[in-house]
Amino acid sequence: MTVLNPYKILLNGDYSTLIVVLSAATFFRSMCSIIGYNGKNSAAPLIVDSLKRMEYRGYDSVGVATFDSGNILVRKGIGKVAEVNKNLNLGQMSGNIGIGHTRWATHGGVTDKNAHPHSACKKDIAVVHNGIIENYKELKEELMSAGHTFVSETDSEVIAHILEIHYNKGIKEAMIETCKRLRGNYAFVAVFQDGAIGGARYEEPLVVGVTNDGYFVSSDVLGFLEYTDKAIFLENGDICVVDNSKLEIFDSQGRPIAHPITQVAWELGDIDKGKYAHHTLKEINEQQLTVIHAGRQDEAVMNKFCDVLVNAKDIYITGSGTSHHSALIFKHMLARFGKIRAETVVSSESKYALASMDSNSVLIAISQSGETADVLDSVRLARDQGAKILSIVNVTTSSLARTSDACLSTNCGPEIGVAATKSFTSQLALIYNITDRICKNCLATEKAEFVIAVENVISNSASSIRAAAQIKDASDVYLLGRSLHYPIALEGALKMKELAYVHAEGIAAGELKHGPLALMEKNTVVIILNPHDATFNDTISNAHEIKARGATVIGISDRKEDIYDYWIEIPHLKEEAYYPIVEVIPLQILAYQMALAKNVDPDYPRNLAKSVTVR
Ligand code: M6R
Repeated sequence: MTVLNPYKILLNGDYSTLIVVLSAATFFRSMCSIIGYNGKNSAAPLIVDSLKRMEYRGYDSVGVATFDSGNILVRKGIGKVAEVNKNLNLGQMSGNIGIGHTRWATHGGVTDKNAHPHSACKKDIAVVHNGIIENYKELKEELMSAGHTFVSETDSEVIAHILEIHYNKGIKEAMIETCKRLRGNYAFVAVFQDGAIGGARYEEPLVVGVTNDGYFVSSDVLGFLEYTDKAIFLENGDICVVDNSKLEIFDSQGRPIAHPITQVAWELGDIDKGKYAHHTLKEINEQQLTVIHAGRQDEAVMNKFCDVLVNAKDIYITGSGTSHHSALIFKHMLARFGKIRAETVVSSESKYALASMDSNSVLIAISQSGETADVLDSVRLARDQGAKILSIVNVTTSSLARTSDACLSTNCGPEIGVAATKSFTSQLALIYNITDRICKNCLATEKAEFVIAVENVISNSASSIRAAAQIKDASDVYLLGRSLHYPIALEGALKMKELAYVHAEGIAAGELKHGPLALMEKNTVVIILNPHDATFNDTISNAHEIKARGATVIGISDRKEDIYDYWIEIPHLKEEAYYPIVEVIPLQILAYQMALAKNVDPDYPRNLAKSVTVR
């Protein structure tokens, strides 16, 4: 097998994953990375490597199953890949065929028994699953009354038992019959006792990696990109079987499907941390380049995107989490510089808000992964009403990219850290480019200055690091900003929550007197986004009001003011619209440093995963 140099590889990836629905459901949903290998090489070492690369998708337990000499061997346990591998020697399991899994569970279910792979009664099948089997309770009851014994509390185990029932009809038939019984969303890979693997997907990603001497079936191209840049992206409802080194893809009726082999086309710097302690730190540092890369767009696609946008009767912009904060900035930029009115809708609310679209409407969906379930739901809703779909996506092979009428790529390479950093500034840089195109170069003259400013704030991080040391024990942090700085206050608060586990709230500065002022007291920490622009005077008044109540004030500004207890300096910009891209970086550094000070792993925040592919 050829091992590709990960530093030089061309990648087209699907960096999406996981999910979380923190509901009152009593079962343990798993949202995870899955991998299968069937080829001429020893499977376990390849699988363990794949799981390490996809660990950001879920990281509370790990397992591997291999097929060797007519037997299926299973080893699994709780912990991260390196730890479980050390304890159980996963990488030394024998056989050229196998499957692997890293898991993310909701409440209470992180146990060895709940770790995947799951087997059925005869131990002739093992399964790894990503997603939610919604009808698992009724299936489990039915299977138990038919004499099946369950050993885990997961929804996933039903898949193994149903496969077992149909296994005597052959693998293909077993896969088809099993998929027919499942409701919900899933991607699963199973290894069978006669040495084949089968995979199926519905609303969860699954991609086949094609090498000269075997196949991978993975939830993410990162699972195999070290070995091949040839990928087949399975569509919803597709089933595949790899038997005797032969790949067969078919639909739910067993009809063969031919998908093209895609050469991954995304230039990847590297997916290793390199000299950095964490992916998050590396990604923060990469921003000096990625904001430039966001400007490299296919002319024809950019033209189409802008044409559709300016000719729309009504425009909605949607996204989740960080990508929703980009949507807020996009709305502002379109109004201010393009004189175009747009509405923003946080994707999880779209089913209540996107009710009056038609064929003259446009939905602009923003997403790093392009696989976020809430975002895809918004798109479906808009599409069903006849609207056109424009998207801003980092993973250009994602479901969102593939379903859009025009898709622009943020081009920032894979983002592994769960907290969005470089993908956010790349989204903003691209949004500024689009706005500039629409307003006929009204922003272009000062374009270079924000790139230099980004470089500057990254290399001058000392004041953010000092401020982090001062506020690391704060229990509440408020972030204030007006106009374009308000979405950055929201984004900064999100970074503090997910990286530093601190309660943080972004507030439109003018709203202070409408309530939040009551919270200001001696131990309160307030971060003020206060560049010397049109918002400066009003925001500095807020700083005085806060200081008068004894709170600590941190100012992020190009101008030093006595009112600040700590000043985080950013460069002055002639075009004030560019400040958001620059001022968010000290907030990322602050949150990252607070995580370190609290001994929290910034790459793998508790309870979260990189992308949320279930509702
Ligand atoms: O992949 P997406 O941009 O669609 O993801 C949306 C959110 O899940 C994501 O931005 C999330 O909020 C980040 N962890 C924030 O840092």
